[in-house]
Amino acid sequence: MVPVPLFSPRESHAPLESELTSAFCRVLQSGRFVLGEEVAAFERELAAWLEVDADRVVGVSSGSDALVAALLALDVGPGAEVVTTPFTFVATAEAIARVGARPVFADIDPRTLNLDRTAVAAAVTSRTRAVIPVHLFGHPAPLDLGELPVIEDAAQAIGARTGGRPVGTIGELGCFSFFPTKPLGALGDGGAVVARRGDLADRVRRLRQHGSADRRAHLELGGNWRLDALQAAVLRTKLPHLTGWVAERRSLAAAYSHAFAAIDGVALPATGADSEPAWAHYVLRVHDGKRDELARHLDAGGIGNAVYYRRPLHLEPAFAHLGYARGAFPHAERAADELIAIPLFPGLGADRQARVVEAVRAFFRG
Ligand SMILES: Cc1ncc(COP(=O)(O)O)c(C=O)c1O
Repeated sequence: MVPVPLFSPRESHAPLESELTSAFCRVLQSGRFVLGEEVAAFERELAAWLEVDADRVVGVSSGSDALVAALLALDVGPGAEVVTTPFTFVATAEAIARVGARPVFADIDPRTLNLDRTAVAAAVTSRTRAVIPVHLFGHPAPLDLGELPVIEDAAQAIGARTGGRPVGTIGELGCFSFFPTKPLGALGDGGAVVARRGDLADRVRRLRQHGSADRRAHLELGGNWRLDALQAAVLRTKLPHLTGWVAERRSLAAAYSHAFAAIDGVALPATGADSEPAWAHYVLRVHDGKRDELARHLDAGGIGNAVYYRRPLHLEPAFAHLGYARGAFPHAERAADELIAIPLFPGLGADRQARVVEAVRAFFRG
């Protein structure tokens, strides 16, 4: 039997091959490979898609660099604390540490897997300068988190909406990733920062170029966080398809949730109130310590699967210096032991989805 992959960026590009090839040729002939008109055009088009002013989107080199630039734009640095979730990809807390600030973790809501408002409130101190909620797996996280500036980590969530608005456009700053497996993926690394204020967008634009707006003076230190023209051209080719892809992700997710509703021993992904997820991943919670057994069963049947995340960040060796012990964030720790992602991507199709459903059902039938 042909395996069912967890995701397949190659398949999603097949129908776009001739459009992508013309985009490559356009960049080749332009002779401009970093920033330039291709990136500026992508920024304007993404701004329109995100329903924000044209000058508020800044293309950058990755979602990780987007987070660093966003923190620097808010003057977060040594001595500051930033509250975030321990149940996320390492880049979220790494960015905080890279600007010299201290990540302070708050536990998640076990139902939605996103930051818990009460836990955030309890983690805030006089040194807290920002909060970074993560729209995990494409599910909108709560953003009404008090008076502090919010940086949305929307790396996994382009296409999600909450309260009728696109995520990543609601907080002071929003950070997107265009890593190839994300709902909008480049053919390499890429990212974007969306700023609610024009002055913050200008600051991020300066930071991505070593702190220089005009290459005459370096007003502050930033980095080389520029987006390549080739990636911008790829993203411009794919952006008009994103609405359809997100709709397809939603209907695949609905079909899974319907198919698994009656299985004892798993909990289905829960969506917060007034939220439309982007469904970057479909993640099951497996009870009774059987998650890894299910993973082996799926591996044996050729069904793609992955564990996000096997270790919450407070227990990662890289964050040992923060001094957290096991037990500090029980909901995040339990999620790390129980969650498993199964295939969900545009083009998965009913037949392959039926094979995934059958493999999961067969496991629970025993
Ligand atoms: C939640 C989250 N934040 C940040 C990032 C970093 O994005 P990138 O890989 O583009 O640097 C990722 C990427 O996987 C992510 O999932």
